[in-house]
Amino acid sequence: MPIHTANADNIKQAAKQIKKGGLVAFPTETVYGLGADARNDKAITAIYQAKARPRFNPLITHIGDLAQAQQYGLFNDMAQHLAQQFWPGALTLIVPRQADCAIGALASAGLPSLALRVPNHPTAQALLAEAGCPLAAPSANVSGRLSPVTAEHVAATLPDIMILDGGQCALGLESTIIGCLDDRPILLRKGAIARQTIELAIGLPLAYLPDTEEAKATQNNKGAHDKEGAARLAHNMEGAQLARDNEGAQLARDNEGAQLAHNMKGAQLAPGRLAQHYAPQAVLRLNATHILAGEALLAFGESVPPPHDPNNKIINLSKTGDLAEAAANFFAALHALDKQADKIAVMPIPNHGLGEAINDRLTRAANAQKVD
Ligand code: TXA
Ligand code: MG
Repeated sequence: MPIHTANADNIKQAAKQIKKGGLVAFPTETVYGLGADARNDKAITAIYQAKARPRFNPLITHIGDLAQAQQYGLFNDMAQHLAQQFWPGALTLIVPRQADCAIGALASAGLPSLALRVPNHPTAQALLAEAGCPLAAPSANVSGRLSPVTAEHVAATLPDIMILDGGQCALGLESTIIGCLDDRPILLRKGAIARQTIELAIGLPLAYLPDTEEAKATQNNKGAHDKEGAARLAHNMEGAQLARDNEGAQLARDNEGAQLAHNMKGAQLAPGRLAQHYAPQAVLRLNATHILAGEALLAFGESVPPPHDPNNKIINLSKTGDLAEAAANFFAALHALDKQADKIAVMPIPNHGLGEAINDRLTRAANAQKVD
């Protein structure tokens, strides 16, 4: 059994494994990560292989604190402010790499930027300290599958990996990702810290690339491909990377004229935003107000429609309509229903606070099923 209780001995064992260039799955407060020494390109390759993840989709590097993060990335005032406010925690910052950055190019897929996060989980922190190196760690699932929030979820798709078991992740959604490549911070992935919470802390509205713009940008670049040197479109299961040519990237702007990463050697549009992200195997039917034959129901709130028949499985994300509770239960509930039914009806989730991040993942999962 690859699952090991996250005690001091097992964390030491895990750290040894990491130092040897091996992989370890470990709990964070968001979801379980599949970790490797971020300075070791060979170890990073093993992550991509284990996940069957396309090489060009960059990973988040986890570090112990802001001071360590600054050894690898360049933090402007905004990035520092955000780090001070939200680290350790469920916020990932995209910052430019330091010139002598020791983190392997493969960890950030050759981009001139880095994704950094200081996790707020004692096991993650202990593993970082014991291993003594930054840990590149995507979510510990095979690409395109649901993110794992328990050790058992990890074992289900990555049976050969050593897993440190720290119980169920408290937040249950991936970190919120903010790009800090210039003065204007950009929300790149909705996640476990609500947009409003961050906006309050920085006193600014966050620019966000609307899905329609994203779709347009993706469409425009389909077929443009290397031939015209215009764009490389990496279309994959874990997120879309729209890397443009050497002159730098002009990413789609939102209506307010949000300024997205300019003057980079290749820029990443919309990490983790492609439709196929987070998909369960079962077919999803969103905004359901009743249950059809053969469907399971992902419910929310007090007024749940009656079952169609006694076999309908129902899991309520939050009976009291609490969005934080719903976020924490979200992936675990989908995992559970996915095992029990081929079709899942999903009740409407209010689209504010953490509901934005939940709806984001639901829409992507449902769209993925229509597209491919
Ligand atoms: O909560 C989380 O963020 C979890 C835990 C394990 O920390 N990790 C996670 O990693 O969700 P992953 O690999 O599944 O998602 C990382 C996202 C991807 O969508 C990737 O495209 C984006 O971060 N990303 C990584 N480096 C980037 C960069 N330099 N520029 C833009 N996006 C980047
Ligand atoms: Mg993931």
